[in-house]
Amino acid sequence: MPQYEIMCGIVGYTGESKAQKVLIEGLSRLEYRGYDSAGVAIQETDGIHVICRKGKVAELAHTLGHFSLTGTCGIGHTRWATHGKPSEVNAHPHTSCDGDIAIVHNGIIENYAELRDELAIRGHVFTSETDSEVVAHLIEDNYHGDLVEAVRLSAMRLIGSYGIAAVCEQEPGIIVATRKDSPIVVGYAAGAEGGAGAASAEAASSASARNGAGAGAGAKAQKGVRGSFVASDIIAMLDSTRDVVVLADGQIAKLAPDGVEYFDMQGKSCEVTHTHIDWDLDLAEKGGYPDFMLKEIHEQPRVIRDTLAGRMVGGALVIDELDLSPEELDLTDRVYVIACGTSYHAGLIAKNLIEAWARIPCEVEVASEFRYRNPIITPTTVVVAVSQSGETADTLAAIRDARVKGAKVFGITNVLGSPVARESDGVIYTKANKEIAVASTKSFIGQVVSLTLLAMLFAQAKGKLTTPQVRLLFRELADTADQVERILSDTDAIRDAALACKDAESALFIGRGIGSAISYEGALKLKEISYLHAEAYAAGEMKHGPIALIDEGFPVIAIATKSPTYDKVVSNLQESRARGAKIIAIATEGDEDIKNYADYVIYIPKVRDAFSAITATVPLQLLARFVAIERGCDVDQPRNLAKSVTVE
Ligand code: M6R
Repeated sequence: MPQYEIMCGIVGYTGESKAQKVLIEGLSRLEYRGYDSAGVAIQETDGIHVICRKGKVAELAHTLGHFSLTGTCGIGHTRWATHGKPSEVNAHPHTSCDGDIAIVHNGIIENYAELRDELAIRGHVFTSETDSEVVAHLIEDNYHGDLVEAVRLSAMRLIGSYGIAAVCEQEPGIIVATRKDSPIVVGYAAGAEGGAGAASAEAASSASARNGAGAGAGAKAQKGVRGSFVASDIIAMLDSTRDVVVLADGQIAKLAPDGVEYFDMQGKSCEVTHTHIDWDLDLAEKGGYPDFMLKEIHEQPRVIRDTLAGRMVGGALVIDELDLSPEELDLTDRVYVIACGTSYHAGLIAKNLIEAWARIPCEVEVASEFRYRNPIITPTTVVVAVSQSGETADTLAAIRDARVKGAKVFGITNVLGSPVARESDGVIYTKANKEIAVASTKSFIGQVVSLTLLAMLFAQAKGKLTTPQVRLLFRELADTADQVERILSDTDAIRDAALACKDAESALFIGRGIGSAISYEGALKLKEISYLHAEAYAAGEMKHGPIALIDEGFPVIAIATKSPTYDKVVSNLQESRARGAKIIAIATEGDEDIKNYADYVIYIPKVRDAFSAITATVPLQLLARFVAIERGCDVDQPRNLAKSVTVE
């Protein structure tokens, strides 16, 4: 089974101060991201010392207090596991066989199994369940006296995403870092007492000159320690320096106590761009975004990519964690998706896909209802429990009930080892990473992508989709990451629409098919964070009641993307507009006609209808946020709501 690491925290320091203290401070800064274990590797005169602890950074700090480590160079990590239990063995740093090389890694090494087999033949012995450990052994294998070269050669073998920092016993005081699709930030600090680089440098692009002597790039003296820093998040070094280099994919940084050199993947010195950070700490924790909700909305392309990573093996879709054979999948003749709130809406989308692709009847039910009725369950029934937190009381009770009645239960959750994970027969972890804003955004996208994979898996096992069809769908699903990025790059139309409905007392969201499921999520987001009353309806229901609500200026938000029912949705818009509704349409790029029926059009890229939930939900999340901010609401912590609902 793949043992993925996702979006954990990296820090590294080399300088004049004790690394132990600097690393612990840096790791503490990263705590808000969520993690389950932490560790450091510190270069001492007698070799590299690695100390890891399950649990909090404070526990690691306490343990370190028992040692008298005085080294001034080291790397540290906070790990938030999704596969491979939280444990000291799985915690980073990982080391090579002889312990001469230690690494920390964020991301997913997709070809780790292949590399591990290859390295095992050459005598490497692996001790953890992680994909990351292979990186330490690969670097060891490529090491012939030059750590930069060893990291470069190793990176060229890696498939997947990675931010890596490595130290080597033979090169005291040196840290080498590189990245692909996972952030790595490098900085140099002249320290409070100033220094060579402190006074001289201007923030500017520079070749591989050492930071302290040129690429010092505005490394003005500020409180904190002197030396070079690497981290996965600027926040970890902000106390010491605000002048940083955000490594580009394929760049390598060689950190020394007096500065940093940069190389490209050909091993040549390269230009880098220096950036001065002027955010305060609060803003930095939010990655420069004004609130966690916006930060998390912007993380969604990454969530899509991480959720899909490693799922297509040799042209076939693989979800090993479910532990179901193709025969068992094929025998499944009824699926229930049980969940609450936003997770329930992800289930509504899954129903469309499971029924359309796999032709299995699928019911989606609010867990608080499911648990109190007597649903039809047989040994060939599969229950899918969806829960971001993995501890929602009603969802848990429904899981227990379904298992007693003989169903196989699969959890889809964001939290490793959560009750939903523990009490299910199999589990898929969404790769959203810790979600802090109460309103779910990125975890919803992770759930939808995971459920889409599940629908494809059922269809593959039942022979309803051919292998080429599965591959095509998978490719298009992967493309949604770029499409979401495009939506996030220009939000002016969404803001305009938000300004148009910020003073409304109520709003209606409509759509058909998957569009109706998206409408429910759009309405929930709006009411949760802006306290504006919002309802969602399948658009075909308009004439059966909700149209009575419409009067002059009443906002109707419609999912009017190109779909088999597009014309029907347009008819619903016309009948609403005729009664004075202010229409905001989420439409497909290139659809000029929609402007005839809508007051505001928010265009999104064209995707297959099956994937429209991923793209069309994003503008609705932003719309809700813009409205909430206009109304002066706290978007991260809306009144009366808690992040996990652990009571009935
Ligand atoms: O942790 P869960 O996914 O089980 O939580 C379910 C709901 O409480 C949750 O989705 C809630 O509706 C969110 N606040 C929605 O933004």
